[in-house]
Amino acid sequence: MLFISAHRKGDRFMSESLGAEFPVESITEGKVKVVVPNLNAYGVVPSDYAPSRAPVFYNPIMEFNRDVSVLAFQAYQRMVNREVTICEPLSATGIRGLRYAAEIQGVAAVVSGDINMRSVTLAVRNVELNNLQNRVTVEHKDANRLLMKHSAPKTRFDIIDIDPFGTPAPHLEAAVQALRNNGLLAATATDMAPLCGVHAKACIRKYGGRPLRTEYCQELAIRLLTGSIATSAAKHDVGVRVLFSHCSDHYIRVYAQIGYGCQKADAALKQMGYILHCFNCLHRETAAKPFPDAAAKCPECGAKMDWAGPLWTGKIFDAQFTDLMANENLHTAFRNSSKITKLLSTAKQEADMPPTYYVLDRLSGKFKLPAPSTAAFFGALQEGGFKAVATHFNSRGIRTDASASEMHNILKTLTPKTQ
Ligand SMILES: C[S@@+](CC[C@H](N)C(=O)[O-])C[C@H]1O[C@@H](n2cnc3c(N)ncnc32)[C@H](O)[C@@H]1O
Ligand SMILES: [Zn+2]
Repeated sequence: MLFISAHRKGDRFMSESLGAEFPVESITEGKVKVVVPNLNAYGVVPSDYAPSRAPVFYNPIMEFNRDVSVLAFQAYQRMVNREVTICEPLSATGIRGLRYAAEIQGVAAVVSGDINMRSVTLAVRNVELNNLQNRVTVEHKDANRLLMKHSAPKTRFDIIDIDPFGTPAPHLEAAVQALRNNGLLAATATDMAPLCGVHAKACIRKYGGRPLRTEYCQELAIRLLTGSIATSAAKHDVGVRVLFSHCSDHYIRVYAQIGYGCQKADAALKQMGYILHCFNCLHRETAAKPFPDAAAKCPECGAKMDWAGPLWTGKIFDAQFTDLMANENLHTAFRNSSKITKLLSTAKQEADMPPTYYVLDRLSGKFKLPAPSTAAFFGALQEGGFKAVATHFNSRGIRTDASASEMHNILKTLTPKTQ
């Protein structure tokens, strides 16, 4: 535990040992009260990603992300039914770790860390403010060094939360090594431009897979990040399965449970593959084989297909785990509770549907037909005997077992006939 002489003076945060001083305010989030940089002093609004301009990072928009994390970690704790330890090695103000200690039942200890001394100073102060010194410690360390310090048996964590600027990729392998068997890895990625194919080379470098600029690129982003977790884990003979994931605001988040053993690692690698996409007719399919074999023509229209991957083609939600989270949400009073209820109920429906979704306006634009209401289109699909559910990724999105050409036909039937 690091002890730093620091105190608050009016609305300025003073750290005598560092000679640092910057404007702060007190906020309440969940069950904790924390001192955070006063973003107004930096001339920024939360939607601007400028929280990173403050001396210590703080983004109020991420309250939703933290709320969902509280539910997921509580659900996990109930699932394993024992006391858990949590590490958050990129913690900034320390708000996450404090919320985990204060709000989740069965948390034995939280280790927070940050490489920025000002963050550590503020986080230590926030631990004291919440009287959580007995269960929350803060370390001034590079994230990977902190994780590797806990890579030996009996020092490993049950849950690791990687919530970085941009990509979590540089921390995945260290995180896997610092998790005990059956532990839970949560990772946020905010680098949506690479993951959605705007900067494809950066995506290949960070995640080892090719992105594709499609209307479902946020789902591909989750699959690319999960693929990177699975391949990082496989190097250590560790397998993964996804319990929950979501895309909200400007980021994606994946909750993956790991399991030790070569067989689990091999089984996870079997879920790696490619998603082939036809930009001509919007048909898509998953393929296990790499691109040269899969450079086939579209089975629907004969055009050449494009591709994304290698990426995770397995499940990205677990219906039972989503239910556990929803159950926890009944007992909370988050500012975001109703938004979370909607996310969880939609994700649960998505859990057992095929990969990728269609976006109604993209379909109707492609086929040059008027876009019907979402409800009318869902109704027509279901009447036609197809499965069709909404997706949390897009309010006009549809996950279905109907093919693009079958949807084209349905769209035609919904188009009013002109005399
Ligand atoms: C996005 S912020 C974390 C926000 C925090 N998790 C929350 O919920 O408010 C990322 C943090 O990672 C820290 N950081 C960046 N590189 C690091 C590294 N290599 N090791 C440890 N911390 C690092 C930054 O100082 C910053 O505080
Ligand atoms: Zn096609």
